[in-house]
Amino acid sequence: MCGIVGYIGKKEAFPIIIKGLQRLEYRGYDSAGVALLNGELQIHKCKGKVQDLLNYTKDKNLHGYIGIGHTRWATHGEPNDVNAHPHVSEVGNLAIIHNGIIENYATLKEELIQRGHTFESDTDTEVFVHLIGEIKEKQNVPLEEAVRMAMQHVVGAYAILVISYDHPRKMVAARKSSPLVVGIGDGEYYLASDATPIVEYTRNVVYLNDEEIACIDLENGLSIKSIENEVRTPFVEELEMNLEMLEKGGYEHFMLKEINEQARSIKDSMRGRLRLEDKEIMLGGIKDYEDKIFNADRILIVACGTSWHAGLVGEYLFEDLARIPVEVEYASEFRYRNPIINKNDVVIAISQSGETADTLAAIRLAKEKGATVLGICNVVGSSIARITDAGAYTHAGPEIGVASTKAFTAQLTILSLMALRAAKQRQTISEERYEFLLKELDRVPEAIEQVMKCEAQVKEIAAVFKDARNFLYLGRGYNFPVALEGALKLKEISYIHAEGYPAAEMKHGPIALIDEEMPIVVLATNQHAYEKIVSNIQEVKARKGKVIAVTSKQDEEISKIADYVIEIPPIADPFTPMVTTVPLQFLSYHIALMRDCNVDQPRNLAKSVTVE
Ligand code: F6R
Repeated sequence: MCGIVGYIGKKEAFPIIIKGLQRLEYRGYDSAGVALLNGELQIHKCKGKVQDLLNYTKDKNLHGYIGIGHTRWATHGEPNDVNAHPHVSEVGNLAIIHNGIIENYATLKEELIQRGHTFESDTDTEVFVHLIGEIKEKQNVPLEEAVRMAMQHVVGAYAILVISYDHPRKMVAARKSSPLVVGIGDGEYYLASDATPIVEYTRNVVYLNDEEIACIDLENGLSIKSIENEVRTPFVEELEMNLEMLEKGGYEHFMLKEINEQARSIKDSMRGRLRLEDKEIMLGGIKDYEDKIFNADRILIVACGTSWHAGLVGEYLFEDLARIPVEVEYASEFRYRNPIINKNDVVIAISQSGETADTLAAIRLAKEKGATVLGICNVVGSSIARITDAGAYTHAGPEIGVASTKAFTAQLTILSLMALRAAKQRQTISEERYEFLLKELDRVPEAIEQVMKCEAQVKEIAAVFKDARNFLYLGRGYNFPVALEGALKLKEISYIHAEGYPAAEMKHGPIALIDEEMPIVVLATNQHAYEKIVSNIQEVKARKGKVIAVTSKQDEEISKIADYVIEIPPIADPFTPMVTTVPLQFLSYHIALMRDCNVDQPRNLAKSVTVE
């Protein structure tokens, strides 16, 4: 949600900011803007994408060695030129960009209006900068102090950058529940919502913690204080990502690149963790907490969206293999329903971005109630990675396409490793089955390489169904969450209504939807429930539905009844989700493309949901 970029140093700020905004555009893309200091405070902003901002600023004065830029995902106020960031203070000397939501903005705004302030936009952000400006004027304090004091009145989530006409060599940054990274160059500083705009300039970064204020002053460098006015020592970390990971690498879209990267990303998730030679699994990040998992009364998995679907597969894995009871919760529901959490529960939070507001809140609640909380995150240094007791990174590499693909299969890899490790330790599967499954898991990247070959066939199927108004996805057991994920992918990027169902549930309602127009994707790979799924296909065909079957064996029975059969390489049931999901990713990708939809930046969505 909203991308923010800042630069302060000796180079021209505008090109750095624009490039950074383009890298962050996956976070939001309904309007964009910059503020530059060059003897004046120049603000340029408009509705639309970063490219629209570039067109709009063609003839403007863009000089300046200090500047801030923003790409917006609207919360308060429709996406238009006025609501675009940056916003300025009452006097007009301060400019702010903001990612997040100010929950008490209406009250603050009312108070400010009573004190004579006037507002141009409908945003909560403008209220924040007016408050900072008022404190600075009235109390005659430094900018960073005014920001700190304003933070004490503001309720909500935010990452902000503030510059001032009166301090042309200073930038102030602050965060609470929204991410902010400071990149440290040679006498210059790069600030951004995540490290992607920074990596091409420096590998040295400082991740701000919640309720911290960073002041960057070209004379004195970077200093950090807490909201309680305590001085903090900046902790400089080295970035692991490289620039190549952020480029399309010859693919037409990031999503296509990321689908194709999965054999590699799954291998990276397993590297050093699955040790076939000594038949061991070693997850270094959670090693010290493994006993908690082995002895857990219950595992609670909290997540949102695709990560929640990964959690559902986790439920099957932990219950089937390690015999530990699992509950999978939408983080947004969990946090508000006074859940029962016991000391012996282990909570696993799953999140690609590591910044999802609801998942963060669920973690805080679980920690308050004394549970051990482990994280499965993709983004290194993200908020969730930092507030959990321990965790395992998925190592999928940056995922830029808004629809999650490789992060999902990497999450499944980690969950598979965790469940298999627990199964061995708890002796809930035989040594023989353990060794078999270990080998099968090791084989997944190879199976993914093979399944990539289905793209051409899936593209043909996409051409047939691109104008369908509804889709149904059916799966059983391990494939049920894949059905949900397949439906979500299609909805997200092609705007076709789609639903995922456990195959047997179909006859309890959705069967009423089936007619000769309705495509039904059936995941028919399950070894133990194979006959049952064949019966489900028969039920669909009896109602003239069009069946697209994903199956792992050359099968006359299914070939005879299904309209289309996509064959995938066979793999043990617990790991099929990683493979069956690939044709569904291709299906949604090609349908979206044929419908002229923006695959990487679907409407209304944002990659990192840092608001409730
Ligand atoms: C779907 C998708 C979203 C995210 C969800 C959670 O393709 O990307 O549903 O899965 O917003 O995000 P993370 O995993 O970052 O917590």
